Amino acid sequence: MRKHTDPTNLSTFLFGVPYYPEQWTEKDREHDPERMKSAGVNTVRMAEFAWDLMEPREGTFDFSHFDHHIERLAKVGIKTVLCTPTAAPPRWLTKQYPEVLRVDKDDKQMRHGSRQHASHCSARFRDFSKKITAAMANHYKENKNVVGWQTDNEFHCHFKDDYSHAAEAGFRTFLQSKYGNIAALNTAWGTAFWALTYDSIDDIELPYNDRPTHVNPTHYLDYQLFLSHAVTEFQHHQVQILRNANPNWWIFHNGFFGGIDYREFSKDLDFFAVDVYPYFCPQATRAAWAASVLDRTRSIAGNFIVPELQTGPGGQGHYLHTTPPPGHMRLMAWQCVARGADGILHFRWRSARFGAEEYWCGVLDHDNKPRARYEEFSQEGAEFARLGSVIIGTTVHPQIAVCYDTGLIEMAHNPIHHGLPSPGYAGEVIWKAFWEGNFSVGYVHPLDDLSRIKLLFVPSMAVITPEIATALTQFVTNGGHLVITARTGQRNANSQVISETFPGLLATLVGATVEGWTRVNENAAQFIHDPETGSFEWDGLGIERSLWMETLEVNTARVVAKWTVGRFARTPAVTKNSVGKGSCWYVGTYLDETSASVFAEKLTREIGLSPLLPEATEPVPDSIEVCVRESEHRKLLFVLNHAGEPVTIPQLPQGIDLLTNILTTPKHPLAPYGVMVIKLA
Ligand code: GAL
Repeated sequence: MRKHTDPTNLSTFLFGVPYYPEQWTEKDREHDPERMKSAGVNTVRMAEFAWDLMEPREGTFDFSHFDHHIERLAKVGIKTVLCTPTAAPPRWLTKQYPEVLRVDKDDKQMRHGSRQHASHCSARFRDFSKKITAAMANHYKENKNVVGWQTDNEFHCHFKDDYSHAAEAGFRTFLQSKYGNIAALNTAWGTAFWALTYDSIDDIELPYNDRPTHVNPTHYLDYQLFLSHAVTEFQHHQVQILRNANPNWWIFHNGFFGGIDYREFSKDLDFFAVDVYPYFCPQATRAAWAASVLDRTRSIAGNFIVPELQTGPGGQGHYLHTTPPPGHMRLMAWQCVARGADGILHFRWRSARFGAEEYWCGVLDHDNKPRARYEEFSQEGAEFARLGSVIIGTTVHPQIAVCYDTGLIEMAHNPIHHGLPSPGYAGEVIWKAFWEGNFSVGYVHPLDDLSRIKLLFVPSMAVITPEIATALTQFVTNGGHLVITARTGQRNANSQVISETFPGLLATLVGATVEGWTRVNENAAQFIHDPETGSFEWDGLGIERSLWMETLEVNTARVVAKWTVGRFARTPAVTKNSVGKGSCWYVGTYLDETSASVFAEKLTREIGLSPLLPEATEPVPDSIEVCVRESEHRKLLFVLNHAGEPVTIPQLPQGIDLLTNILTTPKHPLAPYGVMVIKLA
């Protein structure tokens, strides 16, 4: 299993574009290789939506189009990453075998006409997927210019559900192998509730939408785990074929969507990848959103690549983004690199003139003329060509991390969420407080390597397994500082509530138990602005309750803060337990933006953690983001200015900015959307 601190196995920093030669005429494509070359492109990605071209009729394969373009690009030194084209099965396939089509939660079968319309559970579709993958793999296995593969394209991007007959059959097989017998399933699902007892696994249906009321939560949890398993298996078949054909190829997939346990899914891959489109987010939260996605991506399998990064404005049917201002595209690329990317491909080479993404604008405009975006892209190309070898091999080692799991823990929240934040959401609020404070922060799976993390948060993770409890206990015993927020440890891996007093498996570590709780149903925003109504005090700093209050009974822990008002007034709200060389805080509420930043400030001071940029007499401008990548031999501090105005950074560590070769100075200026890559002394 790869660690969050692992580099990719790439020896060169990748820079390029997804390229769709099949969408252009000979004349349009005429200057492509030379223009790419002079912009610094070393890699393109091709073929993810070209199944119809490569297998125009069942069993008839024709790769001449891509052979030609791979060769043309190779002549100028550009390598190709190919994709299995299974996100867009051709019409002959869906016409002849309509049973391959996916079915949504309302039992509606998808029709042909866009993409992602086939079921990963369909044996027929799996068969076609293997055949096209094998045909491509065999054809290209000795082609030195094909260096790697992307499986499919963004599994679960448009929707994750699959209620097809194939999915139902697959679900039953999954349950059979998970539980072995129906009695075990009945116990795990708690079917004694609402007379749901099953006599046979064959009687079990998918959790369709047409029930009078809520479905059994473990039934729905298993359905999600099954969908994740199915897509992982679908990918596995492709990966096996590719690896057998040429073991030197590296293989990745571009995430990040719901309903996939990406750590499990990524075991098959050389590294993970993420497509980054920050303009889906409003300007005010854009930088934080992207940073959070990038940190989450790194938590899956370490360093990654970005096979699609926003270039110009993006648009489909009902939306069209604003056009990124000059300099912002380059900043977005450097942000990805700062947080762990070992390669950047800008989506896409040329803006399409037809199809559902006619206004998803690429490096070149519709008229094929290189303009400002091409210039900016070329600047990036030159910079990555120069600094790529310094960047490759370095990774991010966050001092502070928030636990994150795209599998069981997040999935268990969905069917029984009560309108409360998911662990992922609760975690992001905490993560953001440290990101804003310019600390070294990231996400980590609780079973990953925690050895270099100093401060770790468990953000209201209802499901805690014995393995996770052991890992967290070890973390604290070895000197780590752990903060657990409300509702953690209440359920087991079947998402059933435990019989022990909360937080169950973590009660000894916490040294306190939850003796009472209430959902706070008042309008949270109103509440946040009214500290009179319910805040607890910690050394004079008010931390407001939001959404939830727990009252704690201490055992070995000491009380850090008490509720000041409400039904739990004067009872413990926050505790701290010293265990081994470390300590464990328990916070009987969800942290909101205000309380998370109060905690960030208090805890880092108490533990002795400093931001990556030391606070000087003047504050660091809000628009500044920092991240460190390091290896045994070097340490790089990335400084990014997300504002469209120049800023001055009051105090920078000593080093040389590799982009300008200038030594850092006190009161260092940084241009609008400016970037520095400081090699620390
Ligand atoms: C991604 C997808 C691309 C393209 C792009 C812009 O989600 O992988 O194929 O659709 O978005 O919409």
